Amino acid sequence: MKRKKVYLGYTEVCDKILNSPYCALIENQKEFYTTTKFTEDLVHERYYYNCLAPSFPGITWDRYISGIKRMAEGHFVPLMLDLVVTGKCHCNCWHCFRGDYQDQRELSVKTIERVLSDAQEMGTAIVGITGGEPLLRKDIMDILRLIPSSMEGLLYSTGIHFHEQFVQELAETRITRCFISLDHYEREKVNKMRGFSHAYDYALNALQLLSDANIYTGVTLCATEGIDSVEEFWRYMDFVYSLDCVDEIRIVLPIPQGNLKGKDFKRFYRDVIRWTREAKKKADQDTDYPNVVLFNEYESEDYVGCGAGYTYLTVNNDGAITPCVCVPLSISNVNEVDLKTAYAEYNKFFTTTGCTCYGRRTSQFLPKDGGDTIPLPENISRDIIEKCIVKDGNASYYRNVENMINKA
Ligand SMILES: C[S@@+](CC[C@H](N)C(=O)[O-])C[C@H]1O[C@@H](n2cnc3c(N)ncnc32)[C@H](O)[C@@H]1O
Ligand code: SF4
Ligand code: SF4
Repeated sequence: MKRKKVYLGYTEVCDKILNSPYCALIENQKEFYTTTKFTEDLVHERYYYNCLAPSFPGITWDRYISGIKRMAEGHFVPLMLDLVVTGKCHCNCWHCFRGDYQDQRELSVKTIERVLSDAQEMGTAIVGITGGEPLLRKDIMDILRLIPSSMEGLLYSTGIHFHEQFVQELAETRITRCFISLDHYEREKVNKMRGFSHAYDYALNALQLLSDANIYTGVTLCATEGIDSVEEFWRYMDFVYSLDCVDEIRIVLPIPQGNLKGKDFKRFYRDVIRWTREAKKKADQDTDYPNVVLFNEYESEDYVGCGAGYTYLTVNNDGAITPCVCVPLSISNVNEVDLKTAYAEYNKFFTTTGCTCYGRRTSQFLPKDGGDTIPLPENISRDIIEKCIVKDGNASYYRNVENMINKA
């Protein structure tokens, strides 16, 4: 079959990425773009940087860059918004940060519509549809169709319930990228880690269908003790490469929340960071290899940092706003106030990007017994948020924009 995607370097995409009213600002950020691989969608003539930025050129890319500029000028813009559309899930993953959540409610379509309309006014560029498992909702396609044309949507899933008609309809929505979880290259291990006997087969089936429909497709690997050497990471990446249908490999470190609450990963993090950097280096040298995104690198001080509660918000399945999908703290709820008012409450505490993962930062302050409702009640959440105020000063990407604005 004819290849529909190719991977390029900055010089090959620079006329496209700079095709924006904000080209001076983008040019100023060049050093961040020269170290990455871009994916070209040959069918739609669209280019992708990674899962945390919209594709370009186009209105969502311009909206995103304009939002970053406004943040540097002192405004607050929730550039990214995740919607936990359901608390239901058919899996029981050993690592799930939602392991303490009991509430299986679904966000109503009316609430989603209202939140998206507020987000549209507030400048949100990227909306993530997540869960639980979003595809357990029968009305999932109705929800995906609500994503406004000014935004791009990301869908996070295990791959369950993917079939040809679904992906064909998906391709007609504003979902431009879909991320399927794949924790290992061996079927038995995936099924065991997910607590579901078809996890591996459903994931692979979804990846193939998405690729056939030419939807940008990624896998998410939560690095765990199962893959614990640089050779194992290479094996995983080679396996994904051999599938010939994946555009991005996202590697995240295990966040000590939910089922992993209280676990000490310090030593493991140090090793994984070394292994994954080495493996990414090898992948980056091969122009045929999909883009490898290391979250610990991208969400660090050297790139965009942690945007929890500042550039990024989550609406939980019960309407509670949390700073990040993995953080079980909440001080406002969209069933009680509009998104703007809810975000304004967060603006009192989250005034910069962080240089470490807020999920990790807050984990040591969570009650050990987990007996309270999750997200934790407002008074406890407020108390922890006050203890964990981020004072790091912005990460490089945002600092660079601030410097440019201040010089002008
Ligand atoms: C919460 S799930 C929701 C979507 C869907 N249920 C899935 O698993 O893909 C989103 C992603 O978070 C990852 N995840 C869950 N718990 C995690 C943790 N403690 N640390 C890091 N990633 C985690 C999952 O592996 C998955 O890739
Ligand atoms: S990681 Fe995803 S699939 Fe696994 S239990 Fe959590 S929500 Fe379900
Ligand atoms: S809390 Fe962690 S997972 Fe969430 S946005 Fe920040 S770095 Fe990413």
